[in-house]
Amino acid sequence: MLKPIDYNQQQHANYAAGRDLGAAHARRWAEVFAAHAPTGRPLDVLDLGCGTGRFIDALADEFQGAVYGVEPSDAMRAQAAVRTTRDATFLVGRAEAIPLPGGSCDLALMFLSFHHVRDRVAAGKEIARVLRPGGRVLIRSQFSDRFPDLDWHAYFPRAREIELAMFPTLAEVETPLAAAGLRRVELVEIQERFDDSLREAAERLKHRAISTFEHMTEAEIVEGFARLDAAVAAETVPQPIITRSDVLVFEKA
Ligand SMILES: C[S@@+](CC[C@H](N)C(=O)[O-])C[C@H]1O[C@@H](n2cnc3c(N)ncnc32)[C@H](O)[C@@H]1O
Repeated sequence: MLKPIDYNQQQHANYAAGRDLGAAHARRWAEVFAAHAPTGRPLDVLDLGCGTGRFIDALADEFQGAVYGVEPSDAMRAQAAVRTTRDATFLVGRAEAIPLPGGSCDLALMFLSFHHVRDRVAAGKEIARVLRPGGRVLIRSQFSDRFPDLDWHAYFPRAREIELAMFPTLAEVETPLAAAGLRRVELVEIQERFDDSLREAAERLKHRAISTFEHMTEAEIVEGFARLDAAVAAETVPQPIITRSDVLVFEKA
């Protein structure tokens, strides 16, 4: 495992700008979540590792029940509380120790947070504990044994190697969740449009709001951005950046 990333140190300062989704993009994700959530409304939802709360408003609108944002980083959680306009409860906690009573949620979302979990067995038990029977957990992650080609990796030679070490395999997610009584339902593939051009992607990337950068040297990063800038200068017809995003769906019996 790579060194843990503390989002209080650096990532929180750039995350909102570098990972902003916009309301329409967040809405499209909410539709994906809805398509793979339990049926019936309202549903009580846990956004586990909610970060700056990118999805909280959309989750409240879509599921119409209580929304809990659990997040270990004080700096990330503070931003979530400020940006959220719907009724939501933010709590300090992590996947291995969720500060909610048993059977309090119908749906848990882990959006790009599962790979930060150090004790996956404890996390599986905790997620199973807080879900009601028939409840589901959606894990949006990369998986190192089916890692997609990411455009920006072309400019940062070590990025792929770092991310392969950072993200779990499918089995490394499924095994601890299955042990906790969470049955895999399906693996959903989404074609996600991140940016409309390489220029736009480069501007976003320059916020360095991807923890992968924290495993690189400053020299590597500067050289990578120089390569990327050269490619942006050579881009005559803007090409959208579209990448496969995976969501693994589990259900509690
Ligand atoms: C890449 S951010 C994603 C945040 C949010 N889900 C989003 O999509 O904007 C990863 C988040 O996971 C949090 N995190 C780190 N360790 C965690 C753990 N053990 N359990 C839950 N969340 C954790 C980090 O503090 C960070 O806010």
